[in-house]
Amino acid sequence: MRTYLVTGGAGFIGSNYIHYMFRKYDNAIRIINVDALTYAGNLENLKDVENRDNYQFVKADICDRDAIAKIFAENDIDRVVHFAAESHVDRSIRTPEVFVQTNVLGTAVMLNCAKAAWELPGGGFKEGKKFLHVSTDEVYGSLPEDENAFFYETTPYDPHSPYSASKAASDLLVKAYMDTYRFPANITNCSNNYGPYQFPEKLIPLVINNALQGRKLPVYGDGKNVRDWLYVEDHAKAIDMVQEQGRLFETYNIGGHNEKQNIEILHIILETLREMLPETDPRRAHINEDLITYVEDRKGHDRRYAIAPDKIRKEIGWEPETMFQEGIRKTIRWFFDNEEWLKNAASGEYQKYYSEMYEK
Ligand code: NAD
Ligand code: DAU
Repeated sequence: MRTYLVTGGAGFIGSNYIHYMFRKYDNAIRIINVDALTYAGNLENLKDVENRDNYQFVKADICDRDAIAKIFAENDIDRVVHFAAESHVDRSIRTPEVFVQTNVLGTAVMLNCAKAAWELPGGGFKEGKKFLHVSTDEVYGSLPEDENAFFYETTPYDPHSPYSASKAASDLLVKAYMDTYRFPANITNCSNNYGPYQFPEKLIPLVINNALQGRKLPVYGDGKNVRDWLYVEDHAKAIDMVQEQGRLFETYNIGGHNEKQNIEILHIILETLREMLPETDPRRAHINEDLITYVEDRKGHDRRYAIAPDKIRKEIGWEPETMFQEGIRKTIRWFFDNEEWLKNAASGEYQKYYSEMYEK
């Protein structure tokens, strides 16, 4: 039985990945989820799996070397899947240091502990051990509006925000471990995810949440920045396929050729909400385009992201399975069915963040 150490498994993508892995492998794997439970970590996301014998949660900070080394000492870890990070660009503009701490130093701790646990006395590493570093397309910077320009694995790094700079630094650390020690790892760089359990600070859940409440929908700048959206379950599947079928030491870009301007996303969400809410639902009355509000642009706002997923398709056979129209309906349905989750996520710390960010 393979044992996985998943970091950041209580966050958006990490929790979707854990659900995906148990659906796929059931009792044939064991997962240890280490998460510090920051504002973005939520154990509610894992309610369905928490009683499984082959699942364990450890509350720890990835920067805490002793806590991470202890997990490796007490368990024969076969796979590390490293999601834990500070992930929100706007927060990184306000408080960059915590991004360096978690994303760079935390990754260094994870690498060092895995290396120490896996290395053999005579050199090299124990057979079959693998580390996967989950990263972002934002490390490549910003593309021109030309529809034929894409991010490839060979595109030079050119990060602009403190978030993407910290992710780029973490990627380079993983590369350094591979080059220096032949440490058995892969890096994946994925485009924007959406789906269940996404924290409502990010564009899609923020718009769904605000529209349902009749609150303004803030659009940065001219609303024409382009993001390449991927349903989160397709990302989870890609990560597993890269780890099991990819060539070690390689980077794989993950994306679905689903580029949309932010303003298009807002129109799609408003239209889909109107379609999906029952005729008698009073919220229908306020869900309209008048909620769209153009606000000051994000500092250093990258104009366009677009992934070329050619390598992962050709080498591994991964392709996205969820078309945007289907994915957004599934996402909205999930938020309808999980009102309590959304209410809890959007209370407390989020209220303070929201008013400082949008209401000053
Ligand atoms: P998220 O913010 O929803 O979740 C991050 C998780 O990491 C949370 O559970 C949080 O508690 C945990 N965490 C934060 N700091 C920690 C620390 N010091 N120690 C232990 N745990 C800590 O993020 P997400 O959107 O799920 O992103 C997960 C990963 O995927 C990140 O590495 C991110 O860079 C990458 N990524 C995200 C996207 C996206 O669209 N969301 C796209 C590509 C790549
Ligand atoms: O590309 C992958 C990245 O996607 C991940 O690495 C990040 O972790 C993830 O947060 C995401 O970053 P973005 O900055 O692209 O996502 P966000 O949802 O914050 O914003 C999407 C776009 O919408 C972006 O162009 C900014 C814009 N936006 C966002 C918010 C929150 C608005 O116009 N208004 C808003 O209120």
